[in-house]
Amino acid sequence: MLNIEDLLRIGPVMPLVTLEDASVAEEVARALVRAGVRIMEVALRTPAALRAIEALARRVPEIRVGAGTVRTVKDLRAAVAAGAAFAVSPGATPSLLDAARRESIPYLPAIASASELMVGFEAGYRCFKFFPAGPAGGPAFLEALAGPFPEARFCPTGGITARTLRSYLEVRSVLCVGGSWITPASALAQRDWKRIERLARTALAAARAPRR
Ligand code: 3PG
Repeated sequence: MLNIEDLLRIGPVMPLVTLEDASVAEEVARALVRAGVRIMEVALRTPAALRAIEALARRVPEIRVGAGTVRTVKDLRAAVAAGAAFAVSPGATPSLLDAARRESIPYLPAIASASELMVGFEAGYRCFKFFPAGPAGGPAFLEALAGPFPEARFCPTGGITARTLRSYLEVRSVLCVGGSWITPASALAQRDWKRIERLARTALAAARAPRR
């Protein structure tokens, strides 16, 4: 099994998908795979989410599917039971940091301050989601953390778009960027898989473009 750092290195873009209808999960994942995406997060924000994760884990082995919006230890256990390849939280709690160490899948807690990072370090974590990245300080915030915490690694999410993702990926500690802009609710409602594929291609092209 890959650890969380290796999983994030699959990136460099991790779409975050909120599904109202588990029956479209496979088409969404296949559109992402056609564009070259190999890792995604399904947010536990709808009743359909766990069923979608279960279906994707069985039917679309080309993409690693994590459970996002893991807010409690109960969510974490449900994600493991559904077959999620990893779990991601928008923050962290002492009980999640502790329970996740004993679970069978890698866990990515989130931070938005130096103190939260220190709590994560104390619990043995080195990789974190940075959320909400835009409002919490953007790439400059991560640059500043690299001074006292050079070994920390990040996947920022929250307000990132195809236009801004490069500014994050250029920070040395950033392994991957995430967000929901690749799978907007309107495209999901219209079952517009081509649009999702295009958005994913644009994101990967922006992430991989040579530095100017
Ligand atoms: C998350 O939980 O990571 C965020 O909801 C993603 O943020 P975004 O919707 O602004 O991309």
